[in-house]
Amino acid sequence: MQQRIETPQRKFKGFETNKTLQRNRAAAMAACKRASATTATPTETKPNPPQTQETTTQTDPPIAPPKKGLIFNLCLFFSIPYFYLLFQRYTIEQDLKRSILINAALSVVGFFLTQRMIPVASRYVLKRSLFGFDINKKGTPQGTVKVPESLGIVVGIVFLVLAILFQYFNFTADSNWLVEYNAALASICFMILLGFVDDVLDVPWRVKLLLPSIAALPLLMAYAGHTTIIIPKPLVSYVGQEVLDLGWVYKLYMGLLAVFCTNSINIHAGLNGLEVGQTVVIASAILIHNIMQIGASSDPEYKHAHAFSIYLVQPLLATSLALLSYNWYPSSVFVGDTYTYFAGMTMAVVGILGHYSETLLIFFLPQVLNFLLSLPQLSGYVKCPRHRLPRFNPGTGLLTGTRDGTLVNFYLRIVGPKSEKSLCIHLLFVQALGCCFCFMLRYFLAGWYK
Ligand code: UD1
Ligand code: MG
Repeated sequence: MQQRIETPQRKFKGFETNKTLQRNRAAAMAACKRASATTATPTETKPNPPQTQETTTQTDPPIAPPKKGLIFNLCLFFSIPYFYLLFQRYTIEQDLKRSILINAALSVVGFFLTQRMIPVASRYVLKRSLFGFDINKKGTPQGTVKVPESLGIVVGIVFLVLAILFQYFNFTADSNWLVEYNAALASICFMILLGFVDDVLDVPWRVKLLLPSIAALPLLMAYAGHTTIIIPKPLVSYVGQEVLDLGWVYKLYMGLLAVFCTNSINIHAGLNGLEVGQTVVIASAILIHNIMQIGASSDPEYKHAHAFSIYLVQPLLATSLALLSYNWYPSSVFVGDTYTYFAGMTMAVVGILGHYSETLLIFFLPQVLNFLLSLPQLSGYVKCPRHRLPRFNPGTGLLTGTRDGTLVNFYLRIVGPKSEKSLCIHLLFVQALGCCFCFMLRYFLAGWYK
């Protein structure tokens, strides 16, 4: 039996060079950094170095089961308006509807696959010491539990498999869309890789900021769509034309949008369920927006742009819901930067290729606000600690806002101390209100703005 146990050392036996040792040390250091980051260590215990399979199963109990009731309610809440719009409200071509439904069916499979794979992957990441401590439970027994990190890797992999398989059901080999679709997938895949690198190596903040611009390169280089923008009607008299060709500036804008979407999801974080929750809310709003645009338009190209977005956002939503079932309060897994970057990049890509980046930015309203509040610390003008989370009081179980410039702290300073769960629900509600505001704005400005 003993011989079968595969320790990291055994695995690389014969290549036991400096590189192997460095790799093991890097994994252990990344975990240590997380565990000790800004007094995050609930006890003085340091995370153990990578352990054998036998000892890991002995010391780390399996993660808590998924919160299925929550996900069921969320699915019901979203599916009713969504399928009403798809089947009843608008007359959508059969072909398009068929593709959307095949994609939805694949996404459901992806949901169950992700839910099954997360506990398995959790064991593996724990074995490699990739875990974090729940900072907002510091001082309670829950704060001493090793929570597996970077489970976004499961979501990312399942998403990519679904998105690749879906091409078989929808696109023909000579389809023009295929080039951009695969370029989009390459960018998302690159982002997952860089996010995982960040989780393992814990790269410095300034480098983190740059990663999405590297990952966006495949899309920027392959993009052959138009580089024009339609000038809002009230501004036409000032600009002198209705359509403006931005040329390379448009590509720069695409790159900046990718950097913003990824990082803005990553820094509006630190509460159980917030990273995935905000993605679920925004993705739902994007899907409803896409169906409304398809239903209201008669331009085939415009419809395809929005259908393209649906094909990527449905799998994103389904796999994210599976992750949320484990990440919701109290979190049994953390999503890692792998997930936040992946989700941000996917939404940026669909906003760019679907040509609705302005609408997307309004869906991102809380993230924009959080970014503005964060600017003094991000720019280095004010000191930026490793974690900018609220202060947790183990006696009352409540969080209090600190002076760090984040929306979470700002909100707490306005409404007073709150429990982590109710704060997260409040913030997701604010996110949903922002999306409703966007729909209203589009409704009232239709015809007048563009
Ligand atoms: C970003 C934020 C940081 C915030 C962190 C939380 C900036 C510049 N950076 O950093 O302020 O503290 O996200 O994700 O704004 N964690 C929890 N509870 C959760 C989620 C995470 O305690 O619900 C802790 C865990 O210790 C986990 C760690 O945060 O291991 C993950 O942090 P990471 O995603 O690496 O932080 P950053 O993205 O660098
Ligand atoms: Mg993060």
